[in-house]
Amino acid sequence: MTQFDFDQPIERRGTSSMKWDALSSRYKMDPENSIAMWVADMEFRAPSCVRERLQGMIDHGVFGYYGDDSGYRASIVNWMDRRHGWAVDPANIYTTHGVVHGLSMCLQAFTDPGDGIIVFSPAYHMFAGIIRSNQRDLIESPLAERQDGRYEMDLDTLEGQLTGKEKMVFFCSPHNPGGRVWERSEIEALAKFCEKHDLILVSDEIHHDLIMPGHKHHITATVAPDIAHKLVTLSSASKTFNLAGGHVGQAVITDENLRAKFDKVKTADAVGPNSFGVVVTQAAYELGEEWLEALLVYLDENRKLFDATIAGISGAKSMPLEATYLSWADFRNCDHDRDEVIRRVEKEAGIATNYGATFGEGGEGRLRFNIACPRAQLEEAMDRVKAAFA
Ligand SMILES: Cc1ncc(COP(=O)(O)O)c(C=O)c1O
Repeated sequence: MTQFDFDQPIERRGTSSMKWDALSSRYKMDPENSIAMWVADMEFRAPSCVRERLQGMIDHGVFGYYGDDSGYRASIVNWMDRRHGWAVDPANIYTTHGVVHGLSMCLQAFTDPGDGIIVFSPAYHMFAGIIRSNQRDLIESPLAERQDGRYEMDLDTLEGQLTGKEKMVFFCSPHNPGGRVWERSEIEALAKFCEKHDLILVSDEIHHDLIMPGHKHHITATVAPDIAHKLVTLSSASKTFNLAGGHVGQAVITDENLRAKFDKVKTADAVGPNSFGVVVTQAAYELGEEWLEALLVYLDENRKLFDATIAGISGAKSMPLEATYLSWADFRNCDHDRDEVIRRVEKEAGIATNYGATFGEGGEGRLRFNIACPRAQLEEAMDRVKAAFA
């Protein structure tokens, strides 16, 4: 037991939580008896340092436009330096309305409608969504599954598929939904590939702090400094500290030419900081480290329980979770077809998950479970899964 209470159940029904509201509206499940294990936010309160800083803001009571953000920038610079050995120039940080917004800004700043955008699929479903809604072409490069059950990029096959219209890569590092922490050599190879084929590399590192014990995340910018003229790093404190509703993310861009283009989109989009999101980000990065360390230990225990449960279902397996709290379970070789698996998980176990197919090619037959919840809730969910497949 640490000073941080991740075991405490927190009722989120009736709080306008997307994850819990959707149980009836989207999944047609009875919210009272169901467990939401889909959207990527956690069932834990943000650290007390965040809540206290926000309380200070509430007590002050004047919610005007945000101005000097030097403290916020410094908190990001210090965090990245301390946790990732990444030296960020505060002047190169852009504040976006979240990481998906940053992805969209990159598309608008550096590509044109009809350009090809490469995604290693299966990938976080909003990659495809934001590419298509910006009228760019989605180019899927399926990840291969290694002998050890982990994903790897297949750059040789991708090279053979290039047509010349490809302008950008959306790289998810660590990977959602596969939970992979990419090795240095893999990131280096991707950077070289982007250099060779004149592709802008957008590295979405929103899960950069949710790294399971024994693994080390490498920030693309530190591994491949030579590609700085083609690189945008997107990140946020939102996944790490459960602040997604604050809708604040960062784009770090070192290259002057890229910055000039990004600036134009920022002006056209009238992007200004949301003071609440900025304040919680700064508090978390300044004071949240101990909480994060305890969280990672807790999540690792949840991971073990989840993996053991899935391993107990004949033919099913889960991908080794090296990062994130999103477990990727493979039901393709179990005794039931896709519809029957979903029926058992939803109707018998009463659990809402993300369907594998929504992550693109290679996702069919899998489900993504969000395991960031109190242990007792996970135990209840796992008991139900066991019973549904017994
Ligand atoms: C890889 C990845 N990028 C971006 C997001 C969402 O970012 P935001 O809420 O800041 O737009 C998620 C959420 O799960 C994600 O997994």
